[in-house]
Amino acid sequence: MPLLEVSDLTIHLPTRRGLVQAVRKVSFALERGATLGLIGESGCGKSLTALALMGLLPEQAQVGGSIRLDGQELLGLSERRLCALRGNRLAMVFQEPMTALNPVHSIGRQVAEPLRLHLGLGRRAAQARAVELLERVGIAQAARRFGEYPHQFSGGQRQRITIAMALACGPELLIADEPTTALDVTVQQQILGLLQELVAEHSMALVLISHDLGVIAQNAEQLLVMYGGSVVESGMTETVFARRAHPYTRGLFAARPQMHVPVAGAAPARLPTIAGTVPELADLPAGCPFAGRCGFTTEACFAQVPGPRLLQAPAGSAPASLASWRQPHVVRCLRDEAIRADAPGAKP
Ligand SMILES: Nc1ncnc2c1ncn2[C@@H]1O[C@H](COP(=O)(O)OP(=O)(O)O)[C@@H](O)[C@H]1O
Ligand SMILES: [Mg+2]
Repeated sequence: MPLLEVSDLTIHLPTRRGLVQAVRKVSFALERGATLGLIGESGCGKSLTALALMGLLPEQAQVGGSIRLDGQELLGLSERRLCALRGNRLAMVFQEPMTALNPVHSIGRQVAEPLRLHLGLGRRAAQARAVELLERVGIAQAARRFGEYPHQFSGGQRQRITIAMALACGPELLIADEPTTALDVTVQQQILGLLQELVAEHSMALVLISHDLGVIAQNAEQLLVMYGGSVVESGMTETVFARRAHPYTRGLFAARPQMHVPVAGAAPARLPTIAGTVPELADLPAGCPFAGRCGFTTEACFAQVPGPRLLQAPAGSAPASLASWRQPHVVRCLRDEAIRADAPGAKP
């Protein structure tokens, strides 16, 4: 049984334009020790999906479908039971470490607190374990710096501290929502490397959220490409990135920054973008969310939500890094046959 099984997760939110569907029938499964990437432009529903897994959605949100952790249904659990799961079996790392850290408490206290709360450790034992955790995530001289406050650390160190907090009780599932977006590129690599090591060390399952294709390509062996609250394409990362069956996935690739060697005197190359803007949730078409921004759109795309289509693995494809298990390659696009005739990487 997979550790995490999400089926038809749907989230409605009240807005000034009425109740809108912000997440639409998202389904996936995740094994222990595996990393699933969630990618898509800002506003596509990544964070809401993450918050739903943690039971941290805003109170007005209406949630449907199912989220099972090790077979146990999480939707509909009481706040008290969810609270016992969070920080214990489930943990989350956010984009901005200061949202997780309390500026008026020492970092040591903040790492030790969940150990006392969830594991019932005494003060001394919790303190010793907290120092170990801080050392593990790369805070030098953790014992000496135990009593210092968040503002005395750099952004990268603060993110390491929130990772130590998330790890404190040995979670089975870790959700990292844009964990490196606020950090310098070199620090980003170190934090992502640390997360990978920890996943392997503890056989955790990791949901890694990013709008950055490079981050997902390097750190997640399977992924969901999201647009307008829907999963438009999913599968093993190398297969999806090689094939790019959905026009939106192709658009993401076309829009990614490339390394340029600047030519003296030349105007900087404009970054291509996906045509149009992400519509407001209330304005999403009844059919495919990408209809209207996509060059392959027909009438039918507006009328009908495309069902999942299973794509055959290309003959002779390399075995997945997780030898025992391969996520199937699924696309939701009515026009995928027409698109297949087009070379991958072509503009949508
Ligand atoms: N509390 C809320 N009330 C109303 N709309 C929200 C709320 N939170 C998020 N949204 C909307 O839901 C959509 C998805 O948001 P989010 O999951 O945060 O996107 P992402 O993390 O992919 O950038 C966005 O259009 C956002 O404006
Ligand atoms: Mg987000």
